[in-house]
Amino acid sequence: MPNLAGKVALVTGCASGIGAATVRRFIADGAKVLGTDLDEARGSALCAEVGAMFTVQDVSDRAAWPAIVAKAVAAFGRLDILVNNAGMVSGAGIGDLDDEAMFAAWDQVLAVNLTGTMAGCRAAIAAMRENPGGPKGAIVNIASTTAIAPLPTDVGYSASKGAVRVLSKSVATWCAKAGLDIRCNTVIPGATQTGMIADAERRIPGLIAAVAKTSPLNRLADPSETAAAIAFLASDECPFMTGAEMLVDGGALSIHPGF
Ligand SMILES: NC(=O)c1ccc[n+]([C@@H]2O[C@H](COP(=O)([O-])OP(=O)(O)OC[C@H]3O[C@@H](n4cnc5c(N)ncnc54)[C@H](O)[C@@H]3O)[C@@H](O)[C@H]2O)c1
Repeated sequence: MPNLAGKVALVTGCASGIGAATVRRFIADGAKVLGTDLDEARGSALCAEVGAMFTVQDVSDRAAWPAIVAKAVAAFGRLDILVNNAGMVSGAGIGDLDDEAMFAAWDQVLAVNLTGTMAGCRAAIAAMRENPGGPKGAIVNIASTTAIAPLPTDVGYSASKGAVRVLSKSVATWCAKAGLDIRCNTVIPGATQTGMIADAERRIPGLIAAVAKTSPLNRLADPSETAAAIAFLASDECPFMTGAEMLVDGGALSIHPGF
């Protein structure tokens, strides 16, 4: 079990799904956690239940990021871990909407999933550089198997997640070249039993059963299984892992599509 004792972590999108499971896991592993989310009621309830701190955040509000990070530092004295988990789908393929609706959906999903992640990395690195004892930190960004095998039904989501993979590598290598002990890695979840997929099932009945079959394990992930990979990359267990990617997809992308 990764040891996060004494580490200070910021987890976005903490009110639901993978973010909530990550907050639970980090607290169990000994971290002090600031959870953030747009959803104040569910986010604050989850954090109160497990002993984490909570603040409302829209991750796409890039100007607000330094103040959010400052809250963790003010409360706990440093920032060791950032998990850029908050995300949304846009639900539209390239030709599905008129121009106005299409570009509005595209701009929003890119602002949350990509610019929000980039702004988070930037603000976290600035704080991690000032950590007592010297620069140190671990950033974990959450992509998706749609970054590798994209959804024809969601061009914005797939493109944003593809970009998150490359963003993580650029951040990782910038930090390494700058001589900073700040790692940046990506977790690539497959279909996971969360609010996001429950919403998709309401739009597309039968989706959950269909995506379960894409894994040779024939099921979705429990969010705690994704959180386990996040906790490992956030810990000191893997100091030589930076710019790396961990698939948590139940083997879905490891099997020939004919089987
Ligand atoms: N569930 C899956 O099958 C799956 C698969 C691959 C990747 N992912 C990714 O995992 C991450 C977590 O998704 P989930 O499945 O737990 O979804 P979820 O919908 O259960 O949780 C997402 C959380 O993010 C919050 N959020 C959304 N927009 C926000 C914003 N602008 N600012 C702050 N918070 C915001 C929501 O309020 C919600 O609490 C996302 O990045 C998602 O793309 C999920």
